[in-house]
Amino acid sequence: MELSKETVFKLIDEAAKARDMAYAPYSKFHVGAALLLGDGSIITGCNIENASFGATNCAERTVIFKAVSEGHRDFKAIAIVGGKADEPLSDYAYPCGICRQVMCEFCPDDFPIIVAVNKEKYYIKPLDEMLPGLFRGDKVL
Ligand code: THU
Repeated sequence: MELSKETVFKLIDEAAKARDMAYAPYSKFHVGAALLLGDGSIITGCNIENASFGATNCAERTVIFKAVSEGHRDFKAIAIVGGKADEPLSDYAYPCGICRQVMCEFCPDDFPIIVAVNKEKYYIKPLDEMLPGLFRGDKVL
């Protein structure tokens, strides 16, 4: 599916808004993610940290788990915006390895991952470039 510029911009906006909801008192690194569903709707998520550190959930997993738990599995694209809460956004917030693996469970090889600083500075890479040699066990999407 070709993503229009309008859709990419909307996803970046929604990810930036979701970032405001981040609960990250330990790292102060706030991340928002916006997931485009097959029906054109968008679900958002943020990172949610925990005093144990290990129980922290990234924004990408929050949004995917939200979507799956609400009955959605047809995902068209994801946008991610992140950075230190007290600094202007300047760098790309790459999805971590665990989140890439979670995307791989539900998304096709060419699933577009939009990593954005803002609407002027972003890039789009397919999942299989972000996670080469991806592992799906014997699952066929
Ligand atoms: N984080 C995300 O939300 N997404 C990623 O893919 C990378 C890391 C969060 C987890 C933690 O709350 C903070 O960023 C610092 O690692």
